[in-house]
Amino acid sequence: MISTGASLSQRLLHVGFILMVFAIAVPVVAGQKIELSVDVSKAGAKIDRNIFGQFAEHLGHGIYEGIWVGPDSTIPNTRGIRNDVVAALKALKVPNVRWPGGCFADEYHWRKGIGPQRAVSLNPNWGGVIESNVFGTHEFMDFLDQIGSDAYISINVGSGTPQEAAEWLEYMTAAQPTTLAKERAANGHPAPYKVGYLGIGNESWDCGGNMTPDYYLSQLKVYNRFVRNFNPAQQDKQRMLKIAVGPGGGGPEWTDWTETVMKAWQHHHWSWDIDGLSMHFYTVVRWPASFASAGFGETEYSQILKSTLEMEDLVRTHSAIMDKYDPQKKVAVVVDEWGAWYAPLAGSNPGFLVQQNSLRDAILAVLNLNIFARHADRVRMANIAQMINVLQAMIMTDKDKMVLTPTYYVFKMYVPFQDSTFVPVTFEPGTYTHGNISLPRVDAIAARDSAGRLWLEITNLDPNQPVEIEASLSGFVARSAAGETLTAPKVDSVNTFEVPNAVMPKSITAKLQGGKLALRLEPKSVTVISVEP
Ligand code: AHR
Repeated sequence: MISTGASLSQRLLHVGFILMVFAIAVPVVAGQKIELSVDVSKAGAKIDRNIFGQFAEHLGHGIYEGIWVGPDSTIPNTRGIRNDVVAALKALKVPNVRWPGGCFADEYHWRKGIGPQRAVSLNPNWGGVIESNVFGTHEFMDFLDQIGSDAYISINVGSGTPQEAAEWLEYMTAAQPTTLAKERAANGHPAPYKVGYLGIGNESWDCGGNMTPDYYLSQLKVYNRFVRNFNPAQQDKQRMLKIAVGPGGGGPEWTDWTETVMKAWQHHHWSWDIDGLSMHFYTVVRWPASFASAGFGETEYSQILKSTLEMEDLVRTHSAIMDKYDPQKKVAVVVDEWGAWYAPLAGSNPGFLVQQNSLRDAILAVLNLNIFARHADRVRMANIAQMINVLQAMIMTDKDKMVLTPTYYVFKMYVPFQDSTFVPVTFEPGTYTHGNISLPRVDAIAARDSAGRLWLEITNLDPNQPVEIEASLSGFVARSAAGETLTAPKVDSVNTFEVPNAVMPKSITAKLQGGKLALRLEPKSVTVISVEP
């Protein structure tokens, strides 16, 4: 996250307040015309499906109640895992899930979460509540199997040891009959698990141990050397990718961190290597997080969107440093915590990071995903924080009820972009101004999928004016076009348990004429169009 000097505990002490703003109704006038030029012959990098990754931490109701209800629950479940949540997540084709944290990971001791008797501990980072450890390694892997996703395991560098982390990986991945592999089998899983991604620490510059870059680097090398994946199926092409802790902002302390790790990596010895450098950036404007997640107006809408666009600079800044030491872009930027962080909802435990999710968050998600897509050659993985009931969630649950958020619908609309090929779009975005904030009126990306279809995403940030889009398509003969748009009456429209379908995609008509695509974007809307060759 961007650091402004406030510690995590200072941030958590803040209970939040609601900023009251009265929106001024502006009459809708004829839309401004914006021309896009899509050149399919100039296809770029692959948009890695992993940029649509999720993050599930032992925090609030992210795991317990959100995923895990236990096999004896009256809520329909499979081996304790909620069926409604699994079905919703399957539709997103979630590529990977980062677990068990976050800050939680650097205090997680995996042995407490295996076997018939689970040690009960505390979760000091997040509300100081009891951690039953009932959801552990086997339950997480079962959850991944059910939703069809890969494991991104964050190991404990802060308060653990290399031996503890090495043994966890042996427990999960060894195929040979070692004592740990036999223990795994006795606990119900004879076959080795696959671990696709390994995070070596989390925010080691802050909650992960307040390390200096040099100290972290020495830890990174040791963990890197000894924490091995033994799964025979992962020794070659599907080998586990290792991700080092990276920056949490763009200032000198963060560029220094990236410099330190990447400079060392450039001349790295055979005994250690990394495939990714993590980056965390929350859209918060200032700490402690104080923006309301619902009940806000256009001022907060424009402030938050302006703030989220800082992601572009962060990616550029750190990519430029990485380019010096890794011009072939072997090491990916992994934005494994991103999203909006608002004031906790009134009445919620402030340590549980509960917030609403509005149309504004859908637009915020799109702006970030589009930045990642435009930097697809370097940004090859990302994890929105967090999957269920925490921060910018896909899903919110309340006992047996579940609601899908506007952010969920964005991830669903973007499924066709997973592993597609980036196609450049050039356009003059126009300007949307509110008070002293000016933003691009329109954002857009395009991609081609493996079936040859062209996908176009266009966002109208302006909450008051529609936009007429005319897209010329070069290097592509279009036969038909169809699409969906996501909008709602207000920038802070939300889906609730009572009214779950207030913000949902609906179909939109796009006209094809003379090789051009014409469509009208509603104010504050996200639109995805598929164009058939
Ligand atoms: O996502 C919530 C917290 O934010 C994570 O645990 C931590 O890594 C970051 O500070």
